[in-house]
Amino acid sequence: MYTSLIRPLLFRLDPEKAHHLATRLGSAFCRMPAAGSRLVRRHSGRWPLLEQKLLGVRFDNPVGMAAGFDKNAGYAELLRFMGFGYAEYGSITAQPSSGNSQPRLFRLIKDRALINRMGLNNDGAESVCKRLAEMKASRPELFDGFPCGINIAKTHNPSITGDDAIRDYIISYGFARTASDYITINISCPNTREGKTFEDRAALEELLSGLDEVRRDGDPPMLVKFSPDTDPQTSDILVSVCEDHAIQGYVVTNTSSGRGALKTPRNELDGIGAGGLSGAPLFAGTSKRVARLRAQLPKERVLIACGGIDSPEKAMQLLSEGANLVQIYTGLVYEGPSLVARINDSLLRKMHDLGAPSLTSWQGSVH
Ligand SMILES: Cc1cc2nc3c(=O)[nH]c(=O)nc-3n(C[C@H](O)[C@H](O)[C@H](O)COP(=O)(O)O)c2cc1C
Repeated sequence: MYTSLIRPLLFRLDPEKAHHLATRLGSAFCRMPAAGSRLVRRHSGRWPLLEQKLLGVRFDNPVGMAAGFDKNAGYAELLRFMGFGYAEYGSITAQPSSGNSQPRLFRLIKDRALINRMGLNNDGAESVCKRLAEMKASRPELFDGFPCGINIAKTHNPSITGDDAIRDYIISYGFARTASDYITINISCPNTREGKTFEDRAALEELLSGLDEVRRDGDPPMLVKFSPDTDPQTSDILVSVCEDHAIQGYVVTNTSSGRGALKTPRNELDGIGAGGLSGAPLFAGTSKRVARLRAQLPKERVLIACGGIDSPEKAMQLLSEGANLVQIYTGLVYEGPSLVARINDSLLRKMHDLGAPSLTSWQGSVH
């Protein structure tokens, strides 16, 4: 129904308008009593064999909504309704921002990909975290087994650099710790006027040291999200910095500035211009990174695989390569919300075929 009917209609609209329309209609739909009784049972019912305790909390299933889809934490109910096992909200930034001018989101249909230069538009850390904390307090049942990650980034303003940039993250961190089950630090944010990011040993060291100074016992675990564009040597260096700072997990990966091997013609790409590429072209890189990191890291580190997952097979491949959890964004745009349930159903079938009593034992038997 999604690919034959809804997607063609949505794809006639500007991608950002389609996103707002789909999320608003979806939210209204999931609050209708009839939808509630029928579809909730089908899509957001728990899959008990897929439950895992990670980062100190229960995840009802391993499929999460990636950062950027629900920047202001307004769609938790819809995400749970779609069957997600957790969601990462944000990126939030210390100061609210309306982001870059539109258009800033583009479809590459031939590549099953998107390019975005949203520019970290969000309502600001204080307001988003307050919304999430209030929702968690008023509807605890919604978040039972459906953890909240909050992704923090630096305010989208090139004049905030150096120590001010670190203070900016610290402000967001202070709000995020009150509302989240885990916090992801997005290090692909420019930290100099020339656009150099925190994906540099010294810059990352300073950022994580700054955060260490404000961390308190009982704060949520902290993860770091990597770019797919760092080479393996740089990535090893960054991981070793993180490992010195009690980072408990990694999200691999963010969007890419690369444009290699795309089917979309060059002139179309030139017309779109700068932005982060997401979707199917990222998958091979995600898979390599997951396998490499899993081989390097202590087994208790949580690995979240993200980038190019648009089928149950791809999600299962990454889980079998050592990811504990997966996240999707662009796959949802191309495949629709049933992708979440399809991944979970396929996993359960595979586990059943192998007689695996839990996700971890299935991973152990196929890894
Ligand atoms: C429109 C859009 C906005 C995004 N915004 C953010 C963001 O604010 N913070 C972040 O860490 N990642 C952001 N991402 C990256 C996704 O979280 C994800 O890492 C990336 O899209 C790769 O996954 P995918 O191939 O499943 O889309 C965004 C992606 C898209 C498509």
